[in-house]
Amino acid sequence: MAPDQDPPHLTGADHPYLPHIGEILVTEEQIRNRVAELGVDITREYQGRPPLLVCVLKGAMMFVSDLSRAIDLPVEFDFMAVSSYGSATRSSGVVRIVKDLDIDLSGRDVILVEDIVDSGLTLSYLRRTLQAREPASFEVCSLLVRESTDVEAVGIRHVGFRVPDDFVIGYGLDVGERYRNLPYIAVYEGPEAH
Ligand code: IMP
Ligand code: MG
Repeated sequence: MAPDQDPPHLTGADHPYLPHIGEILVTEEQIRNRVAELGVDITREYQGRPPLLVCVLKGAMMFVSDLSRAIDLPVEFDFMAVSSYGSATRSSGVVRIVKDLDIDLSGRDVILVEDIVDSGLTLSYLRRTLQAREPASFEVCSLLVRESTDVEAVGIRHVGFRVPDDFVIGYGLDVGERYRNLPYIAVYEGPEAH
């Protein structure tokens, strides 16, 4: 590839993703702008007590990566992986920790970074489990929250975007492990993956 050429793009008529990618709900630019705003808010709120960002793998990986660079504080990271029983497009709320955190949460100012809060079942399990470890504070920052979800009731401090009930893909969110690398959030229009 010549040095002045753009790298190959994830678009094109014969791309295998395309038939299943529906309406773009959140563009790259909207993500960039909102992440910058969230970074400013968090920087202001956590002066003198840099937070520990707890990323819920794998969906929140893109978000935590960009969000952390928008926070002007010496943040730390940790990662956990959970698997929720259910189909590829519906969570059952029965959650199992597949990879636990390495860092002790006690006395820490924790921000749980999530990709999407739908029913809130996964979040309520994580909140219960992590708050039992006695952090100094515990807040939630979710890239996406359903329009039908009661943000106050579920207790989400920072919300990126509200999205309708359609199943969405991209910027970390998957169907059967694919589509995570789309740089935007789109509606998924393919068959249910198992
Ligand atoms: P909840 O327990 O119903 O709130 O579901 C939350 C989890 O289900 C998220 O962390 C995602 O992994 C997954 N999820 C829910 N809705 C979607 C979606 O539209 N696209 C991709 N993953 C989703
Ligand atoms: Mg998922």
